[in-house]
Amino acid sequence: MNERLALLRNTMAEIDLITSETGSSSEILQRVCDTLASIPGYDWSGYYLVDGTRRDTLLLGPFHGEPTEHRNIAFGQGICGQAAESQQTFLVNDVSTQGNYLSCSPKVKSEIVVPVFSGCRLVGELDLDSHTRNCFTSDDRRFLEWVAEATSGFVTRLAKGE
Ligand code: SME
Repeated sequence: MNERLALLRNTMAEIDLITSETGSSSEILQRVCDTLASIPGYDWSGYYLVDGTRRDTLLLGPFHGEPTEHRNIAFGQGICGQAAESQQTFLVNDVSTQGNYLSCSPKVKSEIVVPVFSGCRLVGELDLDSHTRNCFTSDDRRFLEWVAEATSGFVTRLAKGE
């Protein structure tokens, strides 16, 4: 097993522990973001929540990294909004190639957005930014899709305001 895969596996075990701890949904998701931030290349990690009343807007939830001006994102706008419309993981190896992109910082070079579901219903997204081009491998993608699934109950509750 390569070193990165071993790190991702260890982080899965850490996230399993975090999701079994006590705390509000917001606190648990914050701990998950803080843990993701310890992975080399994961320079910003955060959740966006689907606005339950409008269902056409994403609202910034817990995150680790520099504050972003993109606190509300309409479906269709940027990488996050496009992933919300397609309801599929959106991996961008080089953000400079994307016309429909919302920049949080000129330092960001690659990004991956993973939808979070409650059953078939989109409830939010997990968003990772990296200062390195081509940061996210197929292992990272599988890992982050696992994280999205493992945390979907907390995202569902937080999106409902619980
Ligand atoms: N770059 C995203 C906006 C959110 S930030 O990365 C935190 C986008 O294009 O949707």
